[in-house]
Amino acid sequence: MKTYEVAVVPGDGIGKEVVPASLKVLDTIADIHGGLKFQYKEFPWSCEYYLEHGQMMPDDGLGILKNFDSIFLGAIGNPKLVPDHVSLWGLLIKIRREFEQSINIRPAKFFKGLRSPLVNPNDFDLIVVRENSEGEYSEVGGRIHKGEDEIAIQNAIFTKTGTKRAMKYAFDLAKQRRNHVTSATKSNGIVHSMPFWDEVFKETEQEYPDVQTASYHIDALAAFFVTRPQIFDIIVASNLFGDILTDIGGAIMGSIGIAPAANININGRYPSMFEPVHGSAPDIAGKGIANPIGQIWTAKMMLDHFGESELGQKLLDTVEEVTNDGIKTSDIGGNATTIEVADEICSRLKKTAAVS
Ligand code: NAD
Ligand code: IPM
Ligand code: MN
Repeated sequence: MKTYEVAVVPGDGIGKEVVPASLKVLDTIADIHGGLKFQYKEFPWSCEYYLEHGQMMPDDGLGILKNFDSIFLGAIGNPKLVPDHVSLWGLLIKIRREFEQSINIRPAKFFKGLRSPLVNPNDFDLIVVRENSEGEYSEVGGRIHKGEDEIAIQNAIFTKTGTKRAMKYAFDLAKQRRNHVTSATKSNGIVHSMPFWDEVFKETEQEYPDVQTASYHIDALAAFFVTRPQIFDIIVASNLFGDILTDIGGAIMGSIGIAPAANININGRYPSMFEPVHGSAPDIAGKGIANPIGQIWTAKMMLDHFGESELGQKLLDTVEEVTNDGIKTSDIGGNATTIEVADEICSRLKKTAAVS
């Protein structure tokens, strides 16, 4: 029996709804496999935890997480209770950085039964490789003066190592797909980091002569997501550009509630973390109507990470089948609840397993 130890952090808002729904699906997958088991340990780290303890996780939180095979996280953030920069930097971003999860893989693909705002969404099938530990997300800077003279300075940090690492990851991924990488730049307006980004991209593409490339300024690229989605295979983007592009990707698929993500530690020193693109959605939290597909697809990425890609593919095919049959939450035009969608996925997985 292969057992994976998974640290579960449901977090805030709809994280507390879509995570349990996804764990039901993961357990069904394990049952079907027969030789696979997920051992969960749940941690209540969230904004409510912060109110009680004055921090988002205990002092030894990272030490605890370090021993798990992976981290499965819902979403963090309840700005009514705790300012976002405090809650996110105290947990999510802390884990990404301290555990050297330098690559954020964010696939986006249109599938049957969804409603896209695009006229022809069938060609929409891409992966954003987001640099996940530096760039515009930086603690360097500060605020000086007070009152009307106040100045806020936010420095973006791009290292050669971090930039090249993200780019190489993108090129390697392209080799498993359609051999094409697009760079998201903005070297016409950002005069230090982005010309540097372009140089590193040029250097990297020379190491991959079989991979085709393109480079667009992020503003034009965002528009091409909508008008020419077929030109994209892999997109490599800085931390902030990748963040923004992947919400657009979610919208193009039909809802940001569908979009999955994986924060990968590529040196194997720490666990990777699996959390969807969306946030805690305070506007719908507690209603039981959150779309669980983003979190379930994220679970599929965790299966891939564990080398269980066949099961992962079966899971995604079942999600597509359920969606296509109209069992879906209201954000994508249905009237099913979070749990109804998850239960339907579980019962179909069981049925297919019984037949085969
Ligand atoms: P959000 O993604 O939470 O919500 C944006 C919109 O999308 C809302 O209308 C919401 O109802 C909808 N939505 C999101 N997920 C959905 C789902 N699964 N099903 C149906 N609808 C869904 O973004 P926001 O409103 O900017 O942020 C809310 C909070 O979440 C903030 O505190 C923010 O900082 C945090 N946040 C956390 C993460 C994370 O932990 N990974 C990611 C993004 C935002
Ligand atoms: C995401 C989120 C986070 C990010 C926020 C909550 C800090 O938007 O994971 O996409 O910007 O990375
Ligand atoms: Mn985001």
